[in-house]
Amino acid sequence: MSRFVAAIDQGTTSTRTMIFDYSGNVVAADQREHEQIFPQAGWVEHDPEQVWANTRATAAGALANADITAADVVSVGITNQRETTVVWDRRTGKPVYNAIVWQDTRTDRIITELGELGGGQERYREKTGLPLATYFSGPKIKWILDNVDGVRERAEAGDLLFGNMDTWVLWNMTGGVDGGIHVTDPTNASRTMLMDLATLTWDEGIAADMGIPLAMLPEIRSSSEVYGTVRERGALGGVPISGILGDQQAATFGQACLSPGEAKNTYGTGNFVLLNTGNNMVLSENGLLTTVCYKIGDNDTVYALEGAIAVTGSLVQWLRDNLGMIGSAAEIEGYARTVDDNGGAYFVPAFSGLFAPYWRSDARGAIVGLTRYVNKGHLARAVLEATAFQTREVIDAMDADSGVPLRTLKVDGGMVVNDLLMQFQADILGVSVIRPKVNETTALGAAYAAGLAVGFWQSEEDIRSNWAKDKQWQPAMDEQRRESEYRNWKKAVTKTFDWVP
Ligand code: G3P
Repeated sequence: MSRFVAAIDQGTTSTRTMIFDYSGNVVAADQREHEQIFPQAGWVEHDPEQVWANTRATAAGALANADITAADVVSVGITNQRETTVVWDRRTGKPVYNAIVWQDTRTDRIITELGELGGGQERYREKTGLPLATYFSGPKIKWILDNVDGVRERAEAGDLLFGNMDTWVLWNMTGGVDGGIHVTDPTNASRTMLMDLATLTWDEGIAADMGIPLAMLPEIRSSSEVYGTVRERGALGGVPISGILGDQQAATFGQACLSPGEAKNTYGTGNFVLLNTGNNMVLSENGLLTTVCYKIGDNDTVYALEGAIAVTGSLVQWLRDNLGMIGSAAEIEGYARTVDDNGGAYFVPAFSGLFAPYWRSDARGAIVGLTRYVNKGHLARAVLEATAFQTREVIDAMDADSGVPLRTLKVDGGMVVNDLLMQFQADILGVSVIRPKVNETTALGAAYAAGLAVGFWQSEEDIRSNWAKDKQWQPAMDEQRRESEYRNWKKAVTKTFDWVP
């Protein structure tokens, strides 16, 4: 009888459950979108209960689509949008507030105040690998404790739990108010700004700075071990849960970037480039993050350098949803192909400020270089090119930090079906870009972590041998044009600074 591994991918715009076989092929999937809640400019929330309901529904849907039952599934892995913050009551299971999403910038003032305690933006860099920025969870927890009525008292009394989406889903899957397991893994914990990157433990000093009671934080376990079994009477009842990886680390694992020097770029709502640095915690001097890449059971921790870009695919969604300029995301390539270049227009989507390598929460989006000549096709091109230019900026930073220029880039995610973008990416980087056969690397990475823990896959060698190339793009742009385009982009970026006091 065939056996399978399931992966739950709780992402920024949707939740998916995917079923994989031993060769790492997708057998079936189910997906549901959840609401994006924008209460005011710069704020982004999700309803945790809707996300949990979607998780259960997609688990059932995926099994039905595969025509299998829980008995055919050897284990489940969880992967998730990182940093997004949920605080809930351990006795009722009710969130005290919506989930505050990673893109949300409301903690701006908290960030400034923490920096003023000494050390500025670099205050926690050495301990956590991160600059002070609105992106991370700790300050989001503080915002909830400071701003939701009665919540600080309840947290101090030990009634409230914090979790990123991995923990929220795991706690509910393992029984919720009825004995739910309150656990996370080091890849997620490394994005809270509360974890000591060397010891993989919560840092009391940082938690004290932010006024966060340690009792509300989940236990940090490895990324691949049996945490518990699915207790709720849903589709996966009785199946062990044995893998947790933040989505970008999961994609790195699924892309088989398992040796130092290997890197991938995922094109999702944002873009995230991760470079495996092995057991070395390389602190960035060029605006990148140092993060846990994965920790498989008792093995030594593997670290990564990360270039996190907040807005790439979500810019295409914005064009569709807010401007109505395209009917579907896929249409953008057709418009971009009606012209040969961007017509002089550059679109810097600093909707959540700018993440790597700038970390400027005062930035806001801009389109520059406009003339009467610029048409819809040029703008469509500028939108796609923004993704490639932002990627070039973080790869340049990576080359500078590591001292070794990247030679090829593995890519995955929704936008890599866009041929024009992938060619432009290779052109603007001057390195070749490779897409794997199984593009669902995020869910696959979580499945690998879960499958390794229960012996479904034996070793990382199995992961390597499952990886296969689908398509490769070679750089074709001449050096002079590449550099002049990139210079224009850099100039455009400077126009987005200083918009928020
Ligand atoms: O850090 C945020 C990241 O984990 C979100 O990923 O794929 O949901 O945009 P995605």
